[in-house]
Amino acid sequence: MPSSMIRIEGLTKHYGPTQAVKGLSFEVPRGQVVGFLGPNGAGKSTTMRILAGSLNPTGGKAFVGDVNVVEDPVGARKLIGYLPESNPLYDEMMVVDYLRFVADVRSVPKDLRAPRIKSAVERCGLTGVVSKDINQLSRGYRQRVGLAAAILHEPDLLILDEPTAGLDPNQIVEIRNLIKDLGKEKTVILSTHILSEVQSTCSRVLIINEGRLVADDTPERLTAGADGSGEVFVVLGHRHGQPLDAATIRASLSAMAGVTAVEVAEGEGAGTLGFRIRHGADDVRRTLFETVVKNDLVLLEVRRTHVSLEDTFRKLTDNKRAA
Ligand SMILES: Nc1ncnc2c1ncn2[C@@H]1O[C@H](COP(=O)(O)OP(=O)(O)O)[C@@H](O)[C@H]1O
Ligand SMILES: [Mg+2]
Repeated sequence: MPSSMIRIEGLTKHYGPTQAVKGLSFEVPRGQVVGFLGPNGAGKSTTMRILAGSLNPTGGKAFVGDVNVVEDPVGARKLIGYLPESNPLYDEMMVVDYLRFVADVRSVPKDLRAPRIKSAVERCGLTGVVSKDINQLSRGYRQRVGLAAAILHEPDLLILDEPTAGLDPNQIVEIRNLIKDLGKEKTVILSTHILSEVQSTCSRVLIINEGRLVADDTPERLTAGADGSGEVFVVLGHRHGQPLDAATIRASLSAMAGVTAVEVAEGEGAGTLGFRIRHGADDVRRTLFETVVKNDLVLLEVRRTHVSLEDTFRKLTDNKRAA
């Protein structure tokens, strides 16, 4: 069994003059839950469609397990459960009939159909609606039906294209929990533009922009600054209640090893000042204490301020579009 579930090498896709994917390469080992992030038009859906065997690339290679997706799309599809971006469900069908139909299309062996459908229905929380027509269901439930349909043939890999798009906050939490649950036993790649989603569901984040990979890291490291750099916010007061001189304090803080920039900010009322201390890979909190004591100051507050995933995302995908 190959160790990687997805392997993409130099993938490109042109739609006429539009280059949607421009030489994308990445690998996903078995068992990972990966967030595939990028602004609209970045090439997420195109990449996922190619991976799911429903669109031919212009160039490059895509493997699922050891199956070449382009050469053997039918073989690849057996390993894949795919939830497309706007999932076309058969509106007029009852949920259970739709799942029977999909099981048939997916060639689930006859004797396994009933138990597989039962298990997918339970797993996806559809027990109460199996006899309803799909067009009677809310968008959240329709997504659950899509997920149930995607797991009927017990694929190793789930490819979910914006699974929470258009859902309300409660439905988002439900689908997210369902994906987390499925991720315990399957490899999952899911695209989204909701960053908090990735933070809570995924162990790895791939960010693409204009058809190229711009980041590949854990959500934690993307928020901490991949190089370990960061920011500490402190509130200082004078030890004997005397007035503070912002410029002098700023100079002492700037002189500490590892500090790259210091900004004066508001304190917490009279006689206090706040400082934002940007630093490199070293944690400056230890030397900070010594500097505070040496200057006859007191440390009223110290906290690390994290760069949010939103900030990182914006920085990496800022295309400086002409207004
Ligand atoms: N069928 C298509 N024909 C022409 N251009 C397309 C087609 N599908 C997508 N594109 C273009 O390719 C680029 C990437 O689109 P897409 O993969 O849908 O991005 P994303 O899912 O990240 O929003 C966009 O510029 C989009 O307009
Ligand atoms: Mg898309």
